[in-house]
Amino acid sequence: MLDRLLLEELLAEVRLAPSVHNVQPTRWRLLGDDRLLLLEDVSRRLPAADPSGHDVRLSHGAALEGLSLALGRRGLRIAEIEPVTEAAISGDLLPVARIAIATGGAFDPLADQVSERISWRGGFRAFGPAGESALDGLPTSSTDLVLVRDPPAVTQIAQLADEAGFHFLCDDAHRAELLRWMRLSRSDPSYERDGLSAEAMAMPGMVALGTRLVLGPLFPLLHRLGLAATLASEQGKFANSVVALFHRPDGEDPLASGRAFYRAWLAMTAQGLAACPVSVLADRPVSNRQLVERYRVPMGRRLVNVFRLGLPASSPQGGRARLPVAELIV
Ligand SMILES: Cc1cc2nc3c(=O)[nH]c(=O)nc-3n(C[C@H](O)[C@H](O)[C@H](O)COP(=O)(O)O)c2cc1C
Repeated sequence: MLDRLLLEELLAEVRLAPSVHNVQPTRWRLLGDDRLLLLEDVSRRLPAADPSGHDVRLSHGAALEGLSLALGRRGLRIAEIEPVTEAAISGDLLPVARIAIATGGAFDPLADQVSERISWRGGFRAFGPAGESALDGLPTSSTDLVLVRDPPAVTQIAQLADEAGFHFLCDDAHRAELLRWMRLSRSDPSYERDGLSAEAMAMPGMVALGTRLVLGPLFPLLHRLGLAATLASEQGKFANSVVALFHRPDGEDPLASGRAFYRAWLAMTAQGLAACPVSVLADRPVSNRQLVERYRVPMGRRLVNVFRLGLPASSPQGGRARLPVAELIV
């Protein structure tokens, strides 16, 4: 049933799943007997931004959910996931999970959102009744979201996000790593393959040029002059947005959290909402704790990530940078 051709077809959809910094760390190997091995390309880890590997594992989880949705379209399903902790094989490849595929799958309507979902980093238009009913349509009670709709509270969270973001930006290794994954010019040979393109970050050309300088050689001087925080501020991006706190059970394997994370994002897309994670809010313990306490994330749950979401002010442009399917099969 599962052969190279089918795997290529599936991965054309799976590769559209989100991944932290668009590093696309997930690789796949056919094992025979309708089994697959999910592997991590450890050369694509983010030691500065994601030292524990949490967000990379969350990204594997999103890819796994993408596989489940792609299988469902074909009447197939994931029958079993066995996490593995084996030593790296052939250099950079680390086995993550063995997956058994079986018949008996069903089409899930979220599969139709896979090609529509993007990380929206542009502006939002005023919510109005359309936005309110889109939010009301989100399955918050059955899923994992606490919504913060009150504009002053959103502004406060935007400030918290700036503080958290700036805290990380002050770390030289963090900035250098971020710049390594930014594709600020179309002449970058990886512009359409991976990382964060100027287009995806909604940066006009001049801003992209400025970003290279602000995050690069000018940062220490701008910091001394007290200008760096203002230049790095993303508060404007929260205008007309609401905030969704994404939480999952304490102690859950991020592979499972990543599956739910992708489903929550696809559910937002299905409502016509555009969204973007603001990971720094969850990554910095002090902001994570504040959000959990202030917005009553239920006991026994942990704040995994935070979304900024709303009605997009314009239509998304451009394609999505992705690795060719052939490179994902190892
Ligand atoms: C675990 C995780 C954390 C992420 N954190 C952020 C973030 O803090 N800021 C951001 O702009 N995008 C974030 N993203 C979005 C990725 O950058 C995005 O998925 C990737 O660039 C691919 O683009 P796409 O989502 O438009 O397909 C995150 C994605 C994942 C899976």
